[in-house]
Amino acid sequence: MGPARGGGEAPNHLSGGEGAPHAGTVPGVPDRTATLSRPAQGPASRQVERHTIERQQPRTTNTSGPQFCPTESPTSLETVRTWSTHAAWIACCGSLPRGLAPGWYADLVAGAREAGTRIALDTTGPALLAALPARPDVIKPNASELAAAVGRPLSTLADVTEAAQELRARGAGAVLASLGADGQLLVAEEGTYYGTARVPVDRVRSNVGAGDASLAGFLVAGGTGPAALASALAHGAAAVQLPGSAMLTPADLSPEAVRVTQDLPLDLRLSEPATA
Ligand SMILES: Nc1ncnc2c1ncn2[C@@H]1O[C@H](COP(=O)(O)OP(=O)(O)OP(=O)(O)O)[C@@H](O)[C@H]1O
Ligand SMILES: [Mg+2]
Repeated sequence: MGPARGGGEAPNHLSGGEGAPHAGTVPGVPDRTATLSRPAQGPASRQVERHTIERQQPRTTNTSGPQFCPTESPTSLETVRTWSTHAAWIACCGSLPRGLAPGWYADLVAGAREAGTRIALDTTGPALLAALPARPDVIKPNASELAAAVGRPLSTLADVTEAAQELRARGAGAVLASLGADGQLLVAEEGTYYGTARVPVDRVRSNVGAGDASLAGFLVAGGTGPAALASALAHGAAAVQLPGSAMLTPADLSPEAVRVTQDLPLDLRLSEPATA
């Protein structure tokens, strides 16, 4: 992860992972991305490997996730802190590498807030719950992650709204809930907004990384309010029309397909209800 010097408001992106974590999803902006990964060999001080992803040269990093030992936890936190000194945003996306305690993101959030850097958290399970009291500026659960966080199933937009409000009460500044084909809900201090970006069914190719693309779109549009939600929707819609986890470019965006409203269709039934 590098400071966003010269990149203006370009957010940084931190990905740690389980299974196939992905990194580098801030399309169309100069991006500096760090993946929490440890070289197969090498001293602990090299455990966080820096990847710089240049404009027009998108890459995806898929790994099975490194194994950290407890003593490496403070070093990795310090490394992120150093690299993000001048960052506008830190985006933490994915589950934690094996060996890091569930509170690692919480410590990172606390440090970022102390330093005045805004932080977006896209993770799940104990790591998400542990980080809430540290007050991340925005979290981006999908429906099943949200259901797991509140411990109950979600079948309607009303359920999603209530769950998002609950996570705000537990510390999240804003909740950007992504709902697959049903769009996204933003519950934030500035208000609650729901939006969709129409994608013809036969144009949907892959939803892998659509959530990451959405969060990137949200952050590049300022990370707050309905305009950022619209950008998140446009980025998500563009991502699903590309194969695999291919990165989109500004040319792929269709902002005219986006609808955002404060008139929430609370009765809307999720096309994929989420179980806790
Ligand atoms: N089938 C779809 N049709 C239209 N838009 C979609 C579809 N699937 C996803 N999207 C868009 O992408 C956004 C993010 O998708 P989703 O909710 O699946 O994220 P996610 O589960 O976090 O994905 P990932 O973790 O793989 O990045 C949705 O909110 C929506 O805007
Ligand atoms: Mg996701």
